[in-house]
Amino acid sequence: MRQAEILAPVAVYIHWPYCARICPYCDFNVVRDRGRKGEQADLVAAIARDLQAQAALIPDRKLVSVFLGGGTPSLMDPAAAADLVALARRLWPSDGEIEVTLEANPTDAEAGRFDAFAQAGVTRLSLGVQSLDDAALAFLGRNHDAAEGRRAAEVAAKAFPRLSLDLIYALPGQTPEAWATELRTAAALGAEHVSPYQLTLEPGTPFDRAVRRGRFAPADPDLAGSLYDVTQETLEGLGFEAYEVSNHARGEAARSRHNLAYWRGEDYVGAGPGAHGRLTLDGVRTATEAAKGVRDYIANVDATGRGWSEREALGPVARAEERLIMGLRTLEGVALDELAPLPLHRLRDLEAAALVRLIDGRLIATAKGRVVLDRVISELAT
Ligand SMILES: C[S@@+](CC[C@H](N)C(=O)[O-])C[C@H]1O[C@@H](n2cnc3c(N)ncnc32)[C@H](O)[C@@H]1O
Ligand code: SF4
Repeated sequence: MRQAEILAPVAVYIHWPYCARICPYCDFNVVRDRGRKGEQADLVAAIARDLQAQAALIPDRKLVSVFLGGGTPSLMDPAAAADLVALARRLWPSDGEIEVTLEANPTDAEAGRFDAFAQAGVTRLSLGVQSLDDAALAFLGRNHDAAEGRRAAEVAAKAFPRLSLDLIYALPGQTPEAWATELRTAAALGAEHVSPYQLTLEPGTPFDRAVRRGRFAPADPDLAGSLYDVTQETLEGLGFEAYEVSNHARGEAARSRHNLAYWRGEDYVGAGPGAHGRLTLDGVRTATEAAKGVRDYIANVDATGRGWSEREALGPVARAEERLIMGLRTLEGVALDELAPLPLHRLRDLEAAALVRLIDGRLIATAKGRVVLDRVISELAT
């Protein structure tokens, strides 16, 4: 009998790529949902087979979380979600409660299925309200308005033990005052976790092309910096702790266990088109990446039994760099021992500049350091 409490943790990420509409800023691995039920059933079967094959490689892990991400997994058949969650629970032991997160878009149709997802074992909803302003939602090309977002949050707060809201800020014309009001409104919707993301112009997206053609100008760096400061101050004032650069939680129990697995360098299994994973195989940290196309992913599982098309053993330096990049995003920081392969020449200078601190053998970015995290990381890694 395996003892879950002495096993290393594993988190499971399942990617559901379908979306009702593709948003013009998004560069996630997504496809339009054209209601192809046969293809979707094949995908569920392939993900199940992929999970089984990966579990055979790392059976002795304790399951701590399942994350159904996308795309829009709230468009999935709740029965399929229930089957995949139950399968993950059978494949790995756990010590009872695991976190099961579902990413959801806030349309009325999806909110109507929240109870079914709760029955399927989902314990935490990550709801993409993005904004509570109708003009901003229209600009973002969303298929819901602010009232639908609020209604979905209210339904979700009743249906699930935990609720997180995603918001996008630094939109053209957004003022710090309006953003602070929006954050306060969002916080009043019953969420214990908020993830505000600054709008990023991802290369190749319609937004990126629109900016190049002069159709709109992104927020300038000074304004974006002020909006970031407003985010920290407002959410802190409302009792949300910034436990990671873009993640704020009311209390430790409200932190995302799944994302903590990424930031702590724990193993995670990736299944579904384009999913990434990190598995420790025979003591070697191994990066995996699945084929991106739905049909390619299914074909790969048919041919090899597994979904990944790329697999790379990470050497000590690559592993340490990844720990630095992920660990410094969080309040926990990263153990200095894990960074031993890196030069860290500038560590004392960064400490003197109050950008990082060393506490009990852990390197932690200060609030000031997290604002310029890319610079801090590149100075430490080179
Ligand atoms: C996988 S996506 C979304 C899940 C869900 N389909 C939705 O749209 O609500 C996860 C989150 O990334 C954020 N996001 C996606 N693209 C972004 C971009 N270009 N800039 C900032 N945030 C972005 C959004 O807040 C989104 O909720
Ligand atoms: S933001 Fe969400 S709904 Fe929009 S395309 Fe990306 S994953 Fe799909």
